[in-house]
Amino acid sequence: MQPILIAPSVISADFGYLRADLARVEQGGADMLHVDIMDGHFVPNISFGPAIAKTIHSHTKLPLDVHLMLSRPRKYITAFAEAGADNITMHIECEDTILTAIHEIHDFDCKVGLAIKPKTPLSAVADYFHRIERLLIMTVEPGFGGQTFMPDMMAKVREAVEIRRQHGYKFDIEVDGGLDKYSIWHAARAGAEVIVAGTAVFGKPEVGKGQPDLGKAIQELRDNAKEALAYLNPPQSEPGPKPS
Ligand code: DX5
Ligand code: ZN
Repeated sequence: MQPILIAPSVISADFGYLRADLARVEQGGADMLHVDIMDGHFVPNISFGPAIAKTIHSHTKLPLDVHLMLSRPRKYITAFAEAGADNITMHIECEDTILTAIHEIHDFDCKVGLAIKPKTPLSAVADYFHRIERLLIMTVEPGFGGQTFMPDMMAKVREAVEIRRQHGYKFDIEVDGGLDKYSIWHAARAGAEVIVAGTAVFGKPEVGKGQPDLGKAIQELRDNAKEALAYLNPPQSEPGPKPS
């Protein structure tokens, strides 16, 4: 059965309690932290930069899965690698030369991810499948947390699983946007292994009103993904006696 890795998206944390939220997701069993970087150009929203990523890194042992929603990601590869990124993912739709950027990220001993927006076909990244460690299939238009999961993206996940199987590629498959305890069923069954979850883990915290149980939210996602996979691959029943 495929491993399921849960990657809470820090952008949905309560930044007034960032250190506490990071500790809670780590104690709550998260496998990595998803770090969304938005430049206000590639996407309409602006999030934060390498200095905050470095702060996040200093408060957690979890690997940082950095998702660059930047028109020109190359300019910031060094800064995010030095901030402690374990994985740097850029968009195939960006304006930089992808192959050069892949080499630059690998030169820092970081893993490379390529992301595709919902309207981009999987074929757009086909030239790079053998060079990357992660394929990020967006399940919302990038830019904001809290949007609705797009189930029709699961066709791309299935296609990626099949291409990977046929050619022996090594990338894992990540989905990002609108993942919750329901949509994770679709994602797990389609073959996604890395599940980004912002709102589903951190909720929509209101300062002074306390936090949701982050560990419980992570566990619920993991349990539902496992259940979906078990449903897909029921245990083989013992062979019965041969008919005489
Ligand atoms: C969207 C980001 C996502 C998003 C996830 O542009 O890449 O990581 O913050 O948040 P939810 O899980 O709330 O959709
Ligand atoms: Zn993201």
